[in-house]
Amino acid sequence: MPQKLYFIYMNNLLKGKRGIISGALNDKSIAWQVALKCHEQGAQFVLTNAPIAMRMGEINKLAETCGNAQIISCDVLKNEDMDNLISKSTEILGGKLDFILHSVGMSLNIRKGKPYTDLDYKFMHDTLDISAMSFHRLLQTCYKADAINEWGSVVALTYIGAQRVFPDYHEMGDAKSLLESITRSFGYHYGKAKKVRINTISQSPTMTTAGSGVKGFGDFFNYADALSPLGNASADDCANYCVLMFSDLSRKVTMQNLFHDGGFSFTGFSKEVMEMNKEK
Ligand SMILES: NC(=O)c1ccc[n+]([C@@H]2O[C@H](COP(=O)([O-])OP(=O)(O)OC[C@H]3O[C@@H](n4cnc5c(N)ncnc54)[C@H](O)[C@@H]3O)[C@@H](O)[C@H]2O)c1
Repeated sequence: MPQKLYFIYMNNLLKGKRGIISGALNDKSIAWQVALKCHEQGAQFVLTNAPIAMRMGEINKLAETCGNAQIISCDVLKNEDMDNLISKSTEILGGKLDFILHSVGMSLNIRKGKPYTDLDYKFMHDTLDISAMSFHRLLQTCYKADAINEWGSVVALTYIGAQRVFPDYHEMGDAKSLLESITRSFGYHYGKAKKVRINTISQSPTMTTAGSGVKGFGDFFNYADALSPLGNASADDCANYCVLMFSDLSRKVTMQNLFHDGGFSFTGFSKEVMEMNKEK
């Protein structure tokens, strides 16, 4: 394709599309990069985060950069916040939604330093609610309000700790398994009823606030980078993949867990990992 045409095409992938992007806490956040790319690709969207995250104020800078996007506070644990988020977003954007990014996760037991074999179940309940049930709450709210256009695309971010044991990933592995299961189950119902697509992107370890909360994250990051034939995928790479998933180029992809990890998930061993072990 001639360079000029390619440029025009690549800059309008989301032109005319309306969406919601959750979870941009600071410029390290994956959602932050997704917002920048969606803006670059011509989308209009609302930003949202928990009230406590909004008080840190960084999201205002992102909103300004993204054509003065509106910000709506929403604690994903609360039904009334979710109702408000969906109704206000469609009002502000002037119509139904075409895409939503769920980029929310938190483990209370990890935060409080509880080992996996001595979980506090109240904390665990909140972890599952924030990191997984919130996705069902988001989808159910949209479904009932008929807030997403046909062929709309909803993406949640997940990690391979849903399929394999990474001991320090802890209860988040259980939360991500539930998140991926909700993706398949709701993906079926929403696809049948309204042709809405629902997928998870399983991202490489990424240096963010949530990521760095996992014990030994630096070692974890380096190991994944050394094992993956393409190296770890960055937040910026993830943002590109989200744009593809929100665009019409992925119309028939739904109910999938899509690995976006430089090949980590299918690699058993690498010379680089062997070298790392020798160094120790
Ligand atoms: N960083 C990684 O290594 C990595 C890898 C794979 C998947 N993910 C996933 O990507 C997503 C985004 O995380 P990130 O790494 O960009 O970190 P991040 O800390 O920047 O984002 C997490 C977001 O969750 C929000 N949040 C927490 N509780 C909330 C609540 N009750 N209501 C609303 N929002 C709430 C936080 O305010 C924050 O913005 C998470 O689902 C995470 O599990 C991260």
